[in-house]
Parts: sequence; C-alpha cells; structure tokens
Amino acid sequence: MSDQRTRDFFNHLRSASRQMALYPEEHPALVEVVNKATDAANVLLDDSAETSITIIGDSLYLERTILPHASLEFNRLLRDMQARGVDSVTLTSRVSRGDVHDLAAFLAATSGDVPAEGTIRLNERPYSRSELETDTGFTGLRRSYARSLDVLRGVSLALDSDESFDLTGATWVVEQLVEQTLSQPAASVLLSTMKSHDEYTFYHSVNVCILAIALARMVGLAEEEIKLLAVGALLHDIGKVRVPLQTLQWPGRLDTEQWAEIKLHPQEGAAAILAAAAPGQEIAAVVAFEHHARYDRQGYPNLTYSRPAHFFSRLVSTADTYDALTTRRSYRRAETPNRALRVLLQGAGSLYDPDLVQTFIKMVGVYPVGSLLELDTGGIVMVTGNHQDPSELADVVLVRAPDGLLLSEPEPTTLKDRVIVDQLTSDRAGVDPAALIEQLDLDG
Ligand SMILES: [Fe+2]
Repeated sequence: MSDQRTRDFFNHLRSASRQMALYPEEHPALVEVVNKATDAANVLLDDSAETSITIIGDSLYLERTILPHASLEFNRLLRDMQARGVDSVTLTSRVSRGDVHDLAAFLAATSGDVPAEGTIRLNERPYSRSELETDTGFTGLRRSYARSLDVLRGVSLALDSDESFDLTGATWVVEQLVEQTLSQPAASVLLSTMKSHDEYTFYHSVNVCILAIALARMVGLAEEEIKLLAVGALLHDIGKVRVPLQTLQWPGRLDTEQWAEIKLHPQEGAAAILAAAAPGQEIAAVVAFEHHARYDRQGYPNLTYSRPAHFFSRLVSTADTYDALTTRRSYRRAETPNRALRVLLQGAGSLYDPDLVQTFIKMVGVYPVGSLLELDTGGIVMVTGNHQDPSELADVVLVRAPDGLLLSEPEPTTLKDRVIVDQLTSDRAGVDPAALIEQLDLDG
C-alpha cells in the first residue's frame, strides 16, 4: 500500500520535474501535473502529521521500510535526486502545492531554490544509514530480492542491445541471496510466493533462485556449490530476452513457429552466460541449457551427450515448475501450492528427478508456509510453520473469520476438530500472505 502510494507520488513528481524543463510556469500541462503530485503527496501522508522518504544508494525507504518496487521503478530519479544533493524528503501535513512545485523545479535544475513554505523539507535525515541498512529479518531479504531483480534487468538490457555484460554483479547479489535464504529458509520460501503479474520472467527467475537455494540446502550441498547453482538458477531463463515479446506473452495456444522460438531460449541463455562467465562459473550455462531437458531427457533441447542432465539442472527444473504453476499468468490461473506439488509428483521419474521432488515436498511441507486454507466453518487460516503431515498442522493463524470478515490482525488458532475444505490462492482469499507474514515477524 505504502509502496504504491510512494510510487504514485514519485511518478507525478517525476513528470512535474520533466515538464518544468519543457513548459512555462502557467502551462496547463505543468499546472495539472504539479496538482497531481501535490494530491499524491497528501494521499501518501494519509492521516499522519509527517512522513519521511530516505534514499540510500539505489534503495528508497518510507520511514524505515524499504520499498522494493519503487526503488527499482524510480532508479533514475533517485540518482538524479542524489546528484542534486537530496537524500531525504520529509513531507508535513498538508503538503502545499508551492512546495511541490519548488521541489520539482529544484530536481529539474531549473531553480536552485529548495521548497520555501516548510511543508517539504530536504535532508533532515531522520534515519541513519546504519539504522536502515541493518540486514536483518525480512527487510534484508526483500532488499536482496530487489537487487536480484535489478541485476536481471541489467543483464537482459545488455543482452537486448547486444552489449557485453559480466557476471560479477550477478555473483555478488546471488551471494547475498544465498546467505539470506540459508539463514531464513521459511521466510525466503515465502518471499518467493510474492507473485507478481507483470514482469513475469524477472520475478519468476528470482523466485526460482530462492527455491533452488533452499532445495540445495535440503539436499546438503555445500555453500560454495549453492552459490554456483544460484547463479544458474537466477539466469536460467535469460535466453528469453531473445524470444519476441509477442510470443512470450501470447495468451493462447502457441503455433509451431512460436513454439520453436520458445524452445531456443535454453541455447540462447547458455551462450550468453558462457560468454560472460568467469572460469569456474560455466555450470550456470549448463543449468540454462538443460533446465527443460527433463529427467528422462525427452525435453528440449535434444541432448547429444549421453550423461543425464546435471544435478543442478534437475534441481532448477523442479523449482521452476513449482513456481511457474503457482503463478498466475494472463492465460492461466494460479494453482494452489498443494496442486502444484501434485503435478510435480505426477511427473516424478519422467519429467522430474523423483528424489528431488520428494525433498522439495518435504521442504515446503504439504501445506507450505503462506498456504491459505478454507475450513468447514467458512473461516480462512494461513499456515505459518512447515509440516510434513497435514494432521500435525498446528501453526496457523485465522485471517478471515467464518462470516467472511477480514481480521485486522491475524489470530493464532488451532485446527483441532476442524476440516480443511479447500486450499485457496491469495487472489481468491483476498489476502497477501507475504505482507501478513511480515506483520507476524516470522523469522524462519
Ligand atoms: Fe525456461
């Protein structure tokens, strides 16, 4: 919510700042966008007397909360602000139009004056860098998540414009992600369930990376191996940059030609990674090459060598399927975690490595953390701990009362004498498990 409101404010502020450079003061287009930015600033303030936005590096914070989406979306604007010496903006109720105008002009460098009316104050820095940057808990994870998205975006932009890239950045963020995921497995797996409809490939890649790291830990891989695997997992679909967008987002059945385009992404990805990989990182290219090869080698591309697909590729393929199935696409609704696990089980031995499927199910539990279950009472509970056996399911919180009312705070409850009648997607349940877990301060 606050992420969205901050994005609205920044969006209008950015437009206002751009238009300052183009139009005279009283131009209607400029007047309108300054008005919009002022309204958005006051919506962002909501009922509070004051709120502050802090910029540190590429990250944007509203009070102490990092805003991953806004940080990425306004990357350029944040840099421009820092270049103008602005690293915090404090808004005071009610923000005046004059101050918004002055801020936009200051950012556009059409004026050197900072807002004069005192409803917007610059550089008060209410939070110190160390206060905001302590990499603990879910916030640190979210930051790693956002940085991974950033790296992926950078790599795909480079590929798209045929520029070279190197894997140093990817390796660094993946190391952070590995550390975070290993120290907070439950929260990480949950983070991977934060589904986003847009930018599907990016979010999907980071999710697959997190799930692959968690699964690698379950099977006992050493941390050094996990780091190598994670680079492959993060970049496994990078070859999709070469697939025409129209085909990637095609809502219906693919024809032969479109299908042939899709099937090239493992080779394309492997070639790009190989070109960029440092010695010792080639395994990431193998993962990209083989992630659709299937356990029985009947997938694509056709493997000309006789060995089975690499263990890392089989592992990524398992995580890939699970995440793809639990994500809503334009042409398909999301499956619940439980049904996605069933699909994995059905394909165990042919499409997927059966041992890895078993371990994966053990890892996420029959009802993974964040699962939303409808009970015979009509109430909806969310699972907050891992369980192998549904009859042992104990850590649940009530999120919707039997009368359908959304609880402002989830209440710990029990499943004793209750029957689970259905598992719901977050869309259907109308709740966001990731936000709820954050509220509950789950520490894995
Ligand atoms: Fe793929």
